[in-house]
Amino acid sequence: MTCTELLNARLTKDRSRAQQLLQAGELVAVPTETVYGLAADASNPDAVAKIFTAKQRPANHPLIVHLSKLEQLDNWAENIPPAAYKLVSKFWPGPLTLLLQKARHVSSLITGGRQSIALRMPEHPLLLELLSQINMAVAAPSANLHKKLSPVRAEQVMESMQGRLAAVLDGGPCRFGIESTIIDLRQRPFKLLRSGPLTRKELEEVLEELVLLPIVHDVAIPGNMADHYQPRTPLLVCKLTQLSELCMKYREKKVMILRWSKVETLSSDLALTCHEIFSMPQDKNSYAALLYDTLHSVDGSGFDLILLEQPPQTEEWLDVNDRLQRATYKRAIE
Ligand code: TXA
Ligand code: MG
Repeated sequence: MTCTELLNARLTKDRSRAQQLLQAGELVAVPTETVYGLAADASNPDAVAKIFTAKQRPANHPLIVHLSKLEQLDNWAENIPPAAYKLVSKFWPGPLTLLLQKARHVSSLITGGRQSIALRMPEHPLLLELLSQINMAVAAPSANLHKKLSPVRAEQVMESMQGRLAAVLDGGPCRFGIESTIIDLRQRPFKLLRSGPLTRKELEEVLEELVLLPIVHDVAIPGNMADHYQPRTPLLVCKLTQLSELCMKYREKKVMILRWSKVETLSSDLALTCHEIFSMPQDKNSYAALLYDTLHSVDGSGFDLILLEQPPQTEEWLDVNDRLQRATYKRAIE
């Protein structure tokens, strides 16, 4: 058990402390524009090994390496196709992870024994400054225990990971609130491995070629599993038309209802229950930015069940629907 320090990313002395800890091979949770990452010096195998222990993550689940300068790309990948440069010149720093062929020297600890490597440059300016000053790339999965919800605030990292890492660097809430888009550029047609804030359309426009969508829940990559991203409170996703019935079915329970549509179709039966209703934002980006944050706060408020009204089933909402499918409770509600 380590005593975890809470550092403030806006303070120079706290950023220096985070640098010092990373250079000493310790784990530091860092803010990014997507979710908080559990960072370790990617060139130090002992430091990288600590990530797996702290997260209770199986060793064959590969990690994303986070760069702070474009020149670092060649240190980590080989046979980089021109398409990679097209994408990074438009989207880095930003919520896009590239899957490329790994450079020979890269430890298989990072890649889960694979020949591929996932690379991204995060957009948080204070993190970029901190990393580029010490010329370090960090391996960083989301800073949560294996299969649990990704944290989007420093307090959420503290709550679930305190004692398992040296420090948490508080850089405020994450702007996107959902994990980066991952695209595999190793062979054509290019394909999305994980949907995220950047859509297939945005990538296709820059690449000027087709990108395949992920087959949800069926991508054979350890770490991309059907039961990831789960809140502690059981969550059921349902259509608007099923909401009233489910509210009545679980009337004895303390239920949080997360609505998307604005129409007032819930019956007055609700008044007989101890359910609470929270309206989620209408537009996709605001919804995604609030999703994990809302689930974290429901988890901390003693609810028995979350009933979530399914948001639109369009491609724009692919990342939200992907995470919701994985967050859904897979057993019977008692
Ligand atoms: O937004 C993000 O990407 C966040 C922040 C912290 O950067 N990171 C993140 O990391 O979501 P993690 O470890 O929770 O998810 C990484 C995903 C996993 O699904 C993993 O299987 C995939 O990336 N991945 C990493 N390296 C890979 C590889 N070599 N081949 C295939 N998939 C890989
Ligand atoms: Mg994760």
